[in-house]
Amino acid sequence: MIIIKAGGSAITDKLRPYTPRIDVMEIIAEQLALIEDSIILVHGGGSFGHFPAKKYKLNEGYMFPEQIKGFSETKEKMEVLNNIFIKILNHKVNTVPIQSSACIITKNKEILKFFSEPISKIINFGAIPVLYGDTVFDEKLGFCILSGDKIIYELSRIFKPEKIIFGTDVDGIYNKDPKKYKDAELIKELSIKEFSIDIGDIDDVTGGMKGKLEEIKRIVQLGIEVDIINITEKGRIVESLQEDFKGTRIFS
Ligand code: IPE
Repeated sequence: MIIIKAGGSAITDKLRPYTPRIDVMEIIAEQLALIEDSIILVHGGGSFGHFPAKKYKLNEGYMFPEQIKGFSETKEKMEVLNNIFIKILNHKVNTVPIQSSACIITKNKEILKFFSEPISKIINFGAIPVLYGDTVFDEKLGFCILSGDKIIYELSRIFKPEKIIFGTDVDGIYNKDPKKYKDAELIKELSIKEFSIDIGDIDDVTGGMKGKLEEIKRIVQLGIEVDIINITEKGRIVESLQEDFKGTRIFS
């Protein structure tokens, strides 16, 4: 089994609210059709989820009644994004979307309960379950935002996949910020012992690159191979299943 994350920065235009990147969704759909192994796909929120979640401070938990409007609005926007993606995926593969808040309860932002049986059933029928970062109910905070990355960690514990691919809009992890330094080099292999906490921004409700690296670290500690690749480029998912690929492979 392979678990693939389609990051929100790749499948949406992060700077323009509620703007999907249809071309990227098509690139992903084409490649999923070529993979024989069973797949679970998880996608992020990008400019669909993060805008309303930030506006209503949803990730700080329930504080005031007005936030219920934000909870509902964020969920609505995530469903719109999921629906756009599902339609494109279904041209090439069979998918079944799963709404996280209907099968997951968190406690202080960590997954406490996960009814994952439907996911096994979908896989047994040879279809692809599609989950996504979402607003969920939380036993301590009332509610919170659950990132796709945290869902992937839990799926990894339950399904023990051989590999996890984190698809973003950059080629992988660089030794310095490639936007600032021309001589920045892509790191092909990286041990979790070398993770720097300073990498990237934290300008989204689920912790940006820092939050992502923390989840990746936990996954690698389960003994699972993790690749970070650029899924906005054609062929990269399929390449990462081969030895020679463009991206960063993380090991313990
Ligand atoms: C965020 O999910 C979901 C919401 C904001 C509702 P992720 O944290 O997985 O999204 P990206 O990949 O960073 O956009």
